[in-house]
Amino acid sequence: MQQNQRASITGIGSYVPGKVLTNYDLEKMVDTSDDWIIQRTGIRERRIVENGQITSDLATQASLRAMEDAGVSPKDLDMIITSTITPDHIFPSTSCYIQQKIGASRASAFDILAACAGFIYAMSIGQSFVNSGAMETVLVVGAECLSKITDYTDRSTCVLFGDGAGAVIIQKSSTKHEILSTSLAADGSQADILIMPGGGAKNPASLASVQQRNHYIQFKGKEVFKLAINNITNLIIETVTKNGLGLEDIDLIIPHQSNLRIIEATMEKLGLPMEKAFVNIDKYGNTSSASIPIAIDEARKEGRLSKGDIVMLVAFGGGLTWGSSVIRW
Ligand code: UT7
Repeated sequence: MQQNQRASITGIGSYVPGKVLTNYDLEKMVDTSDDWIIQRTGIRERRIVENGQITSDLATQASLRAMEDAGVSPKDLDMIITSTITPDHIFPSTSCYIQQKIGASRASAFDILAACAGFIYAMSIGQSFVNSGAMETVLVVGAECLSKITDYTDRSTCVLFGDGAGAVIIQKSSTKHEILSTSLAADGSQADILIMPGGGAKNPASLASVQQRNHYIQFKGKEVFKLAINNITNLIIETVTKNGLGLEDIDLIIPHQSNLRIIEATMEKLGLPMEKAFVNIDKYGNTSSASIPIAIDEARKEGRLSKGDIVMLVAFGGGLTWGSSVIRW
């Protein structure tokens, strides 16, 4: 391996469950309409787990696909990092279940929690371990069963979320997709505007916490919406500047898929055309940690990524947390 090789994405895989929940299905569950959901969010349908499928199952399928794509075997993996807000259990980590399910017995394994920005956070950890030389091959996963923490009696949240998983392999390479830089940010002063209040040390599960519907996602949609646009826009500008690039150098932005209007407003503020943003929210809704790796995989399969392209990954979510990563494809 040459000295100047840097951490790169050498394999990509994704997996979504087969069951489709359409806007028309939701019309039968809450007071909403296909028109409202499409106009306000861009979402037409989302995937939902069934038959006992759980987060580590989705993650396992995505991971096996990423490993096959990179040409690595389970025993090659040094580390597994999973970003999820819907782990199989609060502990042990979902990464440990993935390690067992894929047979990666040499790999260390742990989860990280940074909500919708979690995949970028997880990738930055993998990137650092690989660049430092401490690890050669790291599996980074974003996987969610958001349907398990979605309140299907609350129309303001239940139309938004879906289930899915995506994964990448990070290794040093001179031919694959180099991670040029990663930027991370957080603002804990706004922690309570996007939250699942029940189930932790502050509000452990109790009859009251269940009756108060505290084990579901709750958020102040409008506030999150505005903060998302401003923070993502500023971060993209900072990130290109840090890399000695201009906005015009970006070939494709792959944003976290939370709302089509957030993506449109961001592109407008940046003065970039929508053709430079990858969008698949119509098919999957918001899959939190999983949305970016699923989108990378689909963008590649759709021929949207060519060798040498500058690709910007950007995400924003609960914490609040946000982050970006620039890849030379
Ligand atoms: O991934 C992490 C980051 N998450 C996000 O970034 C999500 C950010 N927020 C959003 O995407 C948007 O704020 C929402 C999609 C959640 C809501 O869109 P909005 O345009 O901000 O709608 P709103 O909450 O201001 O509600 C407008 C109206 C209200 O009715 P009134 O008060 O005007 O009569 C709501 O009750 O729309 C009503 N409404 C609905 N109507 C039909 C809210 N949800 C629905 C619904 N169907 N599902």
